[in-house]
Amino acid sequence: MRAFVADGNGSVRLEEVDERDPDPWEIVVAVAAFSINRGETFQLEDPRPEWRPGKDIAGYVAVAATDGSGPSAGTPVVAHVPSSGWAQRVVVPRTAAIVELPARVDVTTSAALPLAGLTALRLLRSVGPLPGISILLTGASGGVGHYLTELAVAGGAEVTAVSASHERGRRLAGLGADVVADVEQTPGRFDVVLDSVGGPGFTAARRKARPAGRVIWFGQASRQPVTLDFFDWVDGTTGAPIEQFHYAGTPDEDAADLRTLVRLVQRGQLHPEIGLVESWSRTASVIEDLRARRIRGNAILTVT
Ligand SMILES: NC(=O)c1ccc[n+]([C@@H]2O[C@H](COP(=O)([O-])OP(=O)(O)OC[C@H]3O[C@@H](n4cnc5c(N)ncnc54)[C@H](OP(=O)(O)O)[C@@H]3O)[C@@H](O)[C@H]2O)c1
Repeated sequence: MRAFVADGNGSVRLEEVDERDPDPWEIVVAVAAFSINRGETFQLEDPRPEWRPGKDIAGYVAVAATDGSGPSAGTPVVAHVPSSGWAQRVVVPRTAAIVELPARVDVTTSAALPLAGLTALRLLRSVGPLPGISILLTGASGGVGHYLTELAVAGGAEVTAVSASHERGRRLAGLGADVVADVEQTPGRFDVVLDSVGGPGFTAARRKARPAGRVIWFGQASRQPVTLDFFDWVDGTTGAPIEQFHYAGTPDEDAADLRTLVRLVQRGQLHPEIGLVESWSRTASVIEDLRARRIRGNAILTVT
């Protein structure tokens, strides 16, 4: 079968690869679509030997588990796998989350759900009760930011989303966020600051936390490390603790939360923002577009 492998120059090339035999409890998925996450583009810059990219896939069960567990052949599914998902077929390991798709959830769209959706859901859980709280969210125009904004607004929070331009923030505004381009010019302080940009943007966002607020740091899209200056704190205006967040859960938690995301989409309570759907033959150029901030929401590649 054909699959994308790291090309050693930060991108990918399509190659013929061996397909391993599934264990009796494993399911083989014929991939219809996959999505690309920013973190995966970082991994491509320093790939481990034998690693192949791809965490978020959707498609149809090609080979059901021979032990009788799991969905039958032909069932539409979405899955979050550790790696190797940008391929025609994927053997889904036992530790990965795989969820059946109901009739009203589109297979291609669902590929945008796993990593970005799990991250948004779990970030909001770590925030706690939402009604009435104010949230400042940086790096908001990506997949995580759109899910987070829709869920937080529905939960009663006031969301201020930071995005580079009015156009990139248009859908966030439609979901109920105040959209701003410049954190430093944003009036007021926030109960919770969620930063995924890092670098100097982190410091600007951190200063916007209320003294009794919280700063949750969950990414570094800028690729620039954060510098903390002791003297930023000595005027007594801010004292909010900084917490680091990672989305990882147990296999059971991943499956339960992926099922929740699918259910929210089915009920019309969550609307993946799909910035682009292209043939997988364009994967390398879509990776470049993502790096250059030319994609809003999630990028989906369809497998032919
Ligand atoms: N901690 C975890 O467990 C976890 C899990 C998933 C994702 N993440 C992180 O969460 C962040 C969002 O993920 P995503 O998939 O939604 O990413 P994404 O689609 O790539 O969106 C990130 C957004 O960050 C902004 N951005 C990109 N480069 C930037 C730069 N150099 N300076 C300032 N802003 C920049 C862009 O918005 P504008 O162009 O509109 O400013 C972009 O749309 C990423 O940093 C990702 O690595 C963390």
